[in-house]
Amino acid sequence: MEFDERLRIQLTGDLRIHRLLNGMWQVSGAHGPIDRRKAIQAMLAYHDAGFTTWDLADHYGPAEDFIGEFRRQLKAVRGEEALADVQAFTKWVPQPMRMTLRVVEEAIGVSLRRMDTESLDLLQFHWWDYENEQYLAALEILAQLQQLGKIKHLALTNFDTQHLQRIIEHGFAIVSNQVQYSLIDRRPEVRMVNLCQERQVWLLTYGTLCGGFLSDKYLGQPEPGQWMLETASLKKYKPMIDAWGGWGLFQDLLNTLKDIADKHAVSIANVATRYILDKPKVAGVIVGVRLGLHDHRKDNARVSSLQLDGQDLERIENILTRSNDLYRLIGDCGDEYRLS
Ligand SMILES: NC(=O)c1ccc[n+]([C@@H]2O[C@H](COP(=O)([O-])OP(=O)(O)OC[C@H]3O[C@@H](n4cnc5c(N)ncnc54)[C@H](OP(=O)(O)O)[C@@H]3O)[C@@H](O)[C@H]2O)c1
Repeated sequence: MEFDERLRIQLTGDLRIHRLLNGMWQVSGAHGPIDRRKAIQAMLAYHDAGFTTWDLADHYGPAEDFIGEFRRQLKAVRGEEALADVQAFTKWVPQPMRMTLRVVEEAIGVSLRRMDTESLDLLQFHWWDYENEQYLAALEILAQLQQLGKIKHLALTNFDTQHLQRIIEHGFAIVSNQVQYSLIDRRPEVRMVNLCQERQVWLLTYGTLCGGFLSDKYLGQPEPGQWMLETASLKKYKPMIDAWGGWGLFQDLLNTLKDIADKHAVSIANVATRYILDKPKVAGVIVGVRLGLHDHRKDNARVSSLQLDGQDLERIENILTRSNDLYRLIGDCGDEYRLS
């Protein structure tokens, strides 16, 4: 397969990934119904276009099953060796409870079976409650399963800087932390990026397009009411925009991004994506894909040749300095998942 090497990065010694990962929360059902057959066809098309890296989770509806079916179809058409070009990064999001070998092994076994693989490429671990220190026990067992070859690499999602540091100091080899990072949400820049630079941890980012808000579609549009937010993503990121500075300031940002996009003959989404891709320690941006429904692949591929210059960055910065400080309002990365 021919790849656009400008959009690929060596995440680990054995994992070379596409820097735009295909996000599969969008097949969970919370973003509209997805037709299984069309979705798998779309996955093959994404793969053939070089978008070979998938981000999913145990709780994203049928996402892990889709990976299993996709792998079987790819193998049937192209042969076993074609599977070496696929990278599928799932998550394990357990309820906080006592973490025994049985609990952890069973959960990982389910993902292995559903994804029809003998080894998970990257297992991203989420934990809801820092007060419950069983997350360290879970990581201990995950590391044992890694030794047995059931997991290739360990990663985290939504861990804050303090707890990422604690985990690293316990000696766990963490490849990446998946966090929200966008023009709207720049909380990782307060503390997380520094630690990632010191300890060689990559960031995989989500929310970089704010569920689609950071695109031409919302330029010049009136503020959408709650009932107009059709997907779980739009519902998630609209309050972020509100906290950040509101719809008026957001429109100022979109207008500036549009000028920059026009200058480079690309889209607003391209500028928003490139801005984050160029940030230190960002290995990849996860872009949600509503498989078989909407396809932005061709547009997103244009990120590859886009280079933002000093003037572009200054214009963006002039808007961002007018926004509120989300770190002060919400806390560090992932703290929104821990507010009780
Ligand atoms: N770890 C976590 O806690 C966490 C949380 C959220 C998400 N995630 C991961 O991140 C992925 C992304 O999800 P997200 O909620 O953050 O959504 P997102 O990637 O910010 O937004 C995805 C939406 O943006 C629109 N879009 C994509 N490319 C576009 C383009 N070039 N032009 C215009 N619109 C474009 C599409 O909307 P339409 O489909 O409407 O066209 C798409 O559904 C998820 O699938 C998941 O893998 C992880």
